Amino acid sequence: MSTPPSLPIAYAHKNLPTYLAQLQEYLRIPSISTLPENKADIERAAHWIATEMRRIGLDNIQIFPTDGHPFVFAEKINTPNASTVLIYGHYDVQPVDPVDKWDRAPFSGDIAEGKIWARGASDNKGQHFVHLKAIESILAAEGNLPINIKILLEGEEESGSAEMDPFLIANKRLLRADSGVISDGAMRVGQPLLAYGLRGVVAMDIHIQGPARDLHSGSFGGTVLNPIQALTDILSQLHDETGRVTIPGFYDRVRTLLVPERDLLAQSGYTLDQWQKDTGAWHPWGEPDFTLLERIGARPTCEINGIWGGFQGEGVKTVIPSTAGAKVTMRLVPHQDPNEIAHLFTEHIERLAPKQVKVEVFHHSGSWPSLMPIDSPEVNAAARALEETWGKKPVFTLGGGSLPVVAAFQRTANLPFVLMPLGLDDNRHSPNEHFGLEYFEKGIEAAIRYFYHLASG
Ligand code: BES
Ligand code: MN
Repeated sequence: MSTPPSLPIAYAHKNLPTYLAQLQEYLRIPSISTLPENKADIERAAHWIATEMRRIGLDNIQIFPTDGHPFVFAEKINTPNASTVLIYGHYDVQPVDPVDKWDRAPFSGDIAEGKIWARGASDNKGQHFVHLKAIESILAAEGNLPINIKILLEGEEESGSAEMDPFLIANKRLLRADSGVISDGAMRVGQPLLAYGLRGVVAMDIHIQGPARDLHSGSFGGTVLNPIQALTDILSQLHDETGRVTIPGFYDRVRTLLVPERDLLAQSGYTLDQWQKDTGAWHPWGEPDFTLLERIGARPTCEINGIWGGFQGEGVKTVIPSTAGAKVTMRLVPHQDPNEIAHLFTEHIERLAPKQVKVEVFHHSGSWPSLMPIDSPEVNAAARALEETWGKKPVFTLGGGSLPVVAAFQRTANLPFVLMPLGLDDNRHSPNEHFGLEYFEKGIEAAIRYFYHLASG
């Protein structure tokens, strides 16, 4: 006898070429949220995916404008007594630079070498498209879904989710659900993962103003503090030699990892070899008392993301620049508070600031870290779905990245999320982002199974 999801899975296999052609169309819209010049593309992507939701048979499709980029919502509420799952994804993508490092045009959507190539292929258009195609396959093959579904797609996840909290608060009833699911982040080759936590993030800028204008370094060098030197002195005092962050109070609220959890994380089998493959780097760096996975998932960090100032052209220019600056983000773990950490950072920088320059610190955005149970009915349903799809039990892990929505839903609606990555690292945020066709196909299978297992409790 065939199991309930077998017809939708067969339907998905048969329609895979069509599904991929649709994904190509979606990927070709350059919906970069952080660049003002792509605002129209963001709108286009929101409308494209809303139209697609309507076409596959979802109801109550809405595009919500915000002060930033719009949210897209849809639902299919079939059975009043069945539980409701909220699927979250983001239709915005990262910028493409450095563009000369791409082997194809960044928004080509080409299918080659068993992969579909484009910025956003994995993060996150491809991964939430998987869920839409799972739903389409079930609706087409069975006529109705085994559970109630709501879908929320965000248009500015990659630029900090500034509109998320007010949107969730204003639309609490519309977004009410029993659980959430997100496919984002990475599994490993043939090895499914379930993430039970994500880090939060705080983004800061440091601006340094030195002399009123760029100066001749011969005429004034030796008398003026160079803003780049002031900046690098400050930045060099963010970590000690073991890799620990030196901002006073930074670790005060960091939860202690206990042995059972360290054992669980060790079982996930993240190896030095895998780390070298993923990063293309040779020697790990960071807190020596923690494993690589613990450093990524369970420890907070402080990273310099960009630095500017002075002459960058070819050849020589003898100048003392008038300004310099840097962008810094900190990844947070439970129970650090993003606002408190922004404050501690600002105080630390102000303490380090030399009197010869003006140092200003700006706070962009922040999101809370999150932690989920690993033994809920939803997690069990996801584990079954992944094992049936990959022939391997998923391992549990902590994600190092951030999805502000997770903590936002936890804090406003106490909604637990299942984090079920369906792609690999896939060069997310890097040149040559892609999504493996096998992972797209297996992802649809896993999502179909997940919805049926959720329904049967
Ligand atoms: N896909 C990531 C989140 C992610 C990465 C989850 C790795 C799990 C593992 C997401 O699109 C992302 O990049 N988020 C940003 C958020 C930031 C801009 C506030 C991030 O983590 O840098
Ligand atoms: Mn991302």
